[in-house]
Amino acid sequence: MAEFKDLFQSADWKTEKHVPAIEAPDAVKKGEPFEVKVSVGKEVAHPNKTEHHIRWINVWFHPDGSKFPYEIGMTSFTAHGESMEGPDTSSIYTHHAATLWFKTDKPGTILASSFCNIHGLWQSSKRLAVK
Ligand code: FE2
Repeated sequence: MAEFKDLFQSADWKTEKHVPAIEAPDAVKKGEPFEVKVSVGKEVAHPNKTEHHIRWINVWFHPDGSKFPYEIGMTSFTAHGESMEGPDTSSIYTHHAATLWFKTDKPGTILASSFCNIHGLWQSSKRLAVK
């Protein structure tokens, strides 16, 4: 029987097109909101077609020593070229990138998960220090 933890794939986002890239500061000031940009295909482009696309990216934060992660936000990418005329006919495609902001008093790990409609679940993470 499969479990979620067995289904998440990971790799270096610079060489594997499905891995969400997390762009955020290495260190932030306590309690001050900062920007986190997440995207798929930053170095190696991922297709964005009706038949093959990224559906969503979800961002989490796991403070050091905490039992559970906190969900920061989720972005769905919902237009993929489909229209009444059929697949890849509308010319309208949501690009698979998003920006979220959050603040924390605690250092920890930013985690991102993403989903490709045919290549499944992917994950990545980035350390965050707090000054
Ligand atoms: Fe894919």
